[in-house]
Amino acid sequence: MHRVGVELGPRSYDIVVGDGAAGDLATLLSGRARVAVVTQTRVAELHGEAVQVALAATEANVETFTIGDGEEHKNLATIEALCRGFTRFGLRRNDAVVALGGGMVGDVAGFAAAVHYRGVAVVQVPTTLLAMVDAAIGGKTAVNLPEGKNLVGAFHQPVGVLADPRVLVTLPEREYRSGLGEIAKYALLGDRDLAHLVENEGEALVARERRIVSDAVARCAAIKARYVEADEEERLGLRAHLNYGHTLAHALETVCGYALAHGEAVAIGLVFAAELAGALERIDTAEVDRQRALVESLGVGTRAPDGVAATDLLAVMARDKKSSGGLTFVLAGANGLDVVDDPPPVALRAAFAAVGVTEGA
Ligand SMILES: NC(=O)c1ccc[n+]([C@@H]2O[C@H](COP(=O)([O-])OP(=O)(O)OC[C@H]3O[C@@H](n4cnc5c(N)ncnc54)[C@H](O)[C@@H]3O)[C@@H](O)[C@H]2O)c1
Repeated sequence: MHRVGVELGPRSYDIVVGDGAAGDLATLLSGRARVAVVTQTRVAELHGEAVQVALAATEANVETFTIGDGEEHKNLATIEALCRGFTRFGLRRNDAVVALGGGMVGDVAGFAAAVHYRGVAVVQVPTTLLAMVDAAIGGKTAVNLPEGKNLVGAFHQPVGVLADPRVLVTLPEREYRSGLGEIAKYALLGDRDLAHLVENEGEALVARERRIVSDAVARCAAIKARYVEADEEERLGLRAHLNYGHTLAHALETVCGYALAHGEAVAIGLVFAAELAGALERIDTAEVDRQRALVESLGVGTRAPDGVAATDLLAVMARDKKSSGGLTFVLAGANGLDVVDDPPPVALRAAFAAVGVTEGA
């Protein structure tokens, strides 16, 4: 069992990674009178039992609340329905919420816990690879508005994150790949141990070998924990590095109409960022090739779908730009990652070509 501490003073907590991690619920929630488990029907059927068994060892009165599956349910109506259900159940300040599911459940349950009675404890029990390495850690919670994704939310640190890699055997292949893209990102943030693990055990990771997956998840969790500790509420810009590869990835997701899984888009975005850093002579060709090979070792594609045009991607990236300037990328350099604004068109063209994006109109 891996145990990674997130040190945030009174809001500190552990991320537990390993077989049977959900068993920690018994100690984490002992003494609570009521526990609301927020999940989705399919996730509850597949993986609800371990949570129920662990909660049965507490004195708590437990009720399960299921929410819809898919981003269209990640909205304020679901938050209202949950908070009304919590109220009827009698859930109050000293009680707790357990979020059992992927990043969507984590965001919704986390936000409902942040606002119900002005804040109830939440334990994140992530069941997707993406949620284990990213979404469940760091206390960011949000729901969507018709105007855009994740626009209403709160920082609400969990009191624990319990990740059992055994639940990943039932995860659909594309969802699993989404997590692999994020693992590639962490490996390229400069962590040599994780880079070696991915380079040497890529096949085992793709094949979901539990011990290797556990090691990789724990390593990623530790990296994310350090960023969260340094910049808990994203006020210092330090968490920007966690968006490595994401400038292009978000644009690809928009332009391709979400035909690409998030992690597939991130994989292409990572190679694009490496090529752009190479074109700007921030890193040499050998480093560009190393980064590309690392991403490819996870079996995720590194070329954009046919017919995607640079002009369309640039238009989306410009629209999504940070208020500080024009196009913003996180790029590798001699001293690690830096935020780089407005790279010259010639470098952008070279990087687009390297991931199979045509120039467009
Ligand atoms: N808060 C953050 O810091 C943060 C970070 C990244 C992403 N997110 C959010 O996370 C969401 C994406 O999360 P996701 O990729 O985990 O997707 P998801 O939560 O939508 O889950 C994907 C699908 O997998 C199913 N599923 C979950 N666990 C399963 C399992 N073990 N076996 C079988 N099926 C399972 C779900 O029911 C769902 O159908 C987005 O809403 C995104 O905005 C939040």
